[in-house]
Parts: sequence; C-alpha cells; structure tokens
Amino acid sequence: MAITYELKKVCKQTGARLGTVHTPHGSFDTPVFMPVGTLATVKTMSPEELNEIGANIILSNTYHLWLRPGEDIIKEAGGLHQFMNWDKPILTDSGGFQVFSLSDMREIKEEGVHFRNHISGAKLFLSPEKAMHIQNDLGSDIMMAFDECPPYPASFEYMKKSVERTSRWAERCLAAHQRPTEQGLFGIVQGGEYEELRKQSARDLVSLDFPGYAIGGLSVGEPKDVMNKVLDFTTHLLPDEKPRYLMGVGSPDSLIDGAIRGIDMFDCVLPTRIARNGTCMTSNGRLVVRNAKFARDFTPIDENCDCYTCRNYTKAYIRHLIKANETFGIRLTTYHNLYFLVKLMEQVREAIAEDRLGDFREEFFERYGFNKP
Ligand code: GUN
Ligand code: ZN
Repeated sequence: MAITYELKKVCKQTGARLGTVHTPHGSFDTPVFMPVGTLATVKTMSPEELNEIGANIILSNTYHLWLRPGEDIIKEAGGLHQFMNWDKPILTDSGGFQVFSLSDMREIKEEGVHFRNHISGAKLFLSPEKAMHIQNDLGSDIMMAFDECPPYPASFEYMKKSVERTSRWAERCLAAHQRPTEQGLFGIVQGGEYEELRKQSARDLVSLDFPGYAIGGLSVGEPKDVMNKVLDFTTHLLPDEKPRYLMGVGSPDSLIDGAIRGIDMFDCVLPTRIARNGTCMTSNGRLVVRNAKFARDFTPIDENCDCYTCRNYTKAYIRHLIKANETFGIRLTTYHNLYFLVKLMEQVREAIAEDRLGDFREEFFERYGFNKP
C-alpha cells in the first residue's frame, strides 16, 4: 500500500489524534496543514523556503495542471516532484471541486462533467477515469477521487442523488487507478449538512477500502457551528487506522477545532491568498499590514514569531513594499503566514502529546480574539 497511517496517541483532553502518514516520498506528522501549490508552485515560495519553514507535504491541483502545462509535459519531465523540484509528499485534488467552483456552464452527467475552460472558454470534459489518468501522470503521492461538491445550501433530495453519484464515481476511480502501489487514492465523503447522507456516503466509501478518507463539501459558505456539527457526526464513521483529511479548511480556529474532532490533514489557500493583499495571521489575530497606522511602525509583524520575515523586517517596510507593488513584500507576508500555520500545527501536535489540546485551544482563542463577542 502506497499510504499508511500510524496512530501514535489520542489526546485525553479532546480526542485529537497524533500520528504519522508514510508515503513513497517520505513521512509527515499529523495533524498537518498542507500549503497549496495550485500550479506546481506555492505562490512566491521556493521549495527551499518551504523546507525551511518545516512544510512536509504540499497540495497541487489536477484541474489547473491539466489545462496548463498539460499532464503529458509533467509526465515527460519525470512527474510533478521532478518538474517542480520538490521531493517530499504531494497530494493532488481531483478537479471535482475546481470544476464546480471555477467554471460556469457545467453539465453534470453520469459519465462525468461537461464544462468550459475558465481561461479560454473551450469545451472540456472531466470524468473519474480522466481524473485518475491525469493524477497517475502527475505522480502525486496522494490522489483524490473525482467527486461532486454541491453548493451550500442544497436540498436533501439533490444531495442524496449527488452522494450516490459520488459513490459510483469513487468505484470507477478505484477501477481506473493504474498505480496503487506508488500512489494512494483517497475517497471523499459528501452529504452536506445531512447526517443520514454523511452516514450513507461514509458507509459506501469505507466499504471500498481506500487508504485514506477526506471530508468534502465543507467550508463552502456554511456557518462554523454547522461545520463542527457535521464533523461531530462524520469523523467517527471513518476507520481509526486511516488518515482523515478535511478539505479546504485553513483558518487557525478551524484547524484547532478540526483536530479536536479527529481530523489529521488540512489544506487551504487562505494563508497564501490573504498574504498577497497584505493580511497576516499573528498570535494576536489578523493584522492588515497595508493599514496606514503601520506607516511608522518599525516592529515586526508578530513579536512572538521567529520566522525569516519577523526576524529581519518591519511592518513599515513591508507596508511600503506592498503599497508600491514590489513583489518582495508579498513574499515576506506569504512566508510569515505559512510559517505561522506550520508552527501552529507543531504546537497542536505537542499539546496532543501532552494531553492538553483543550487548554491550548482556550489560550489560543483568547489571544487570537475568537472569544470576543
Ligand atoms: N476542496 C474543498 N472542498 C472539496 C470537495 O468537497 N471536493 C474536492 N474534490 N475538493 C475540495
Ligand atoms: Zn513571522
């Protein structure tokens, strides 16, 4: 099996899991946050910098790499790891979500999805078989099944049909996967906010025996308490001995609350995206470094941070760079935000090891400002 999970410890205070996932390109400890490198690059970061901050797995996207440069070119380069000079684990999303979030004029059929290229407008078709073929060519360590991620809210009737189709597509994905010893394929549990449908989806997918499972269809506009409630009745439906991945979640509070509900892996564009408009995550909450009040602030973004950015540069300087559209500015904020989340997950793992994640959550929420009314 390409992917194995080692459960090391369960936090006595919260039930959060400490573990290690083993892949053909090395191992990573969980709970983990995966930086997003949609187009075979984590925007503004070199692989050396990603190593430096302690990132041990990144995510990339089937949909985008299929459109450009094309999976044939990446295969010819020797696979995605070689192409982008990253030799640690890579997870690729299947394109299911991107088809639904990026393209209009899509038509969902049993065989797959017809839609238009979000760049050129050309007609395209993606199916479970195609998504597997592309991901096999990319050579990612963890591939994702081709699923449907319905919008929030969706009716029970629609969601039931969608869940059933996603289960049939999951079976087709397994059948089409050509490299199961080199690449692990994860199933994606859907079902929206409906407990009965999450149960049905989990039951269908668990019976197919994937090496890991994702929970999809969350962080699509629902309130935080809905997401936590769905996790409360979904994670325990998944096998203890396989990794669990909550897709598209990356705000610090949701990472902690997800870990407490038994999630092992997370990804989100949030830290890198907000960095590019000058917003930073700090131990005291979000900070908009573009703000005029920082024009003469010669202190670092976060006094409690020892990243390259905070050790060497001031808010006033970074604000100046970003306002002047100098690319070094967004490199500095991106570096800091990713460092912040990678370190946050290190602290979460430490807290699990010492049975005190509940206390850690309290302190973190208080400082970050999540407890304010
Ligand atoms: N990314 C965020 N949510 C989802 C989802 O439900 N499915 C897929 N494939 N990717 C996602
Ligand atoms: Zn920093």
